[in-house]
Amino acid sequence: MKGTKETGDFARLSAFYKDNGLEIEVSETAPQGTLKSWKWEDGETGELLAAATLQKRDGCYVLADLAVKEELRGSGMGKKLLRIAEDEAKSLGAGEMWLVGKVPAFYSKFGWKEMERETAPDISRCQTCEDFGVTCFPSIMKKVF
Ligand SMILES: CC(C)(COP(=O)(O)OP(=O)(O)OC[C@H]1O[C@@H](n2cnc3c(N)ncnc32)[C@H](O)[C@@H]1OP(=O)(O)O)[C@@H](O)C(=O)NCCC(=O)NCCS
Repeated sequence: MKGTKETGDFARLSAFYKDNGLEIEVSETAPQGTLKSWKWEDGETGELLAAATLQKRDGCYVLADLAVKEELRGSGMGKKLLRIAEDEAKSLGAGEMWLVGKVPAFYSKFGWKEMERETAPDISRCQTCEDFGVTCFPSIMKKVF
């Protein structure tokens, strides 16, 4: 899709995700289960503008990360990257996809549903975290294809 390219440069992506509000450790190596990442760069300067990462965790396809540079939010980049990650999961045979995130209203627009923690597979630390629903309120979401 226009503007996006696959990338394996997880050091750059993880720094970008962190700078753009995601809880992630900056690392040279992509976490185990990482299937693909996509970057969206400025065509002239090469600056990283947005990115997404698809992983497989506990046998499930998971949107692990998605972020758009703050100044460019609301211009359709998040939606396009989300669709790329969903299409990739579908092409790999996924019947559903999961994520743990903090912007449920964004994902709801695209057919994602909030799920009870008890019904979710073991895809994040939230499954056993005692802060979940007490001081930390992430949404566990699923999309059925
Ligand atoms: C969430 C995020 C990826 C959305 O990307 P974006 O490029 O701004 O979103 P888009 O421009 O593609 O928006 C698509 C639609 O979602 C809506 N939308 C975008 N962000 C939204 C939000 N936070 N809440 C509700 N709706 C939102 C837009 O209004 C748009 O609706 P429309 O099609 O009716 O006009 C981006 O805001 C971001 O990077 N946030 C910080 C990092 C983050 O929270 N990532 C998600 C981790 S779970």
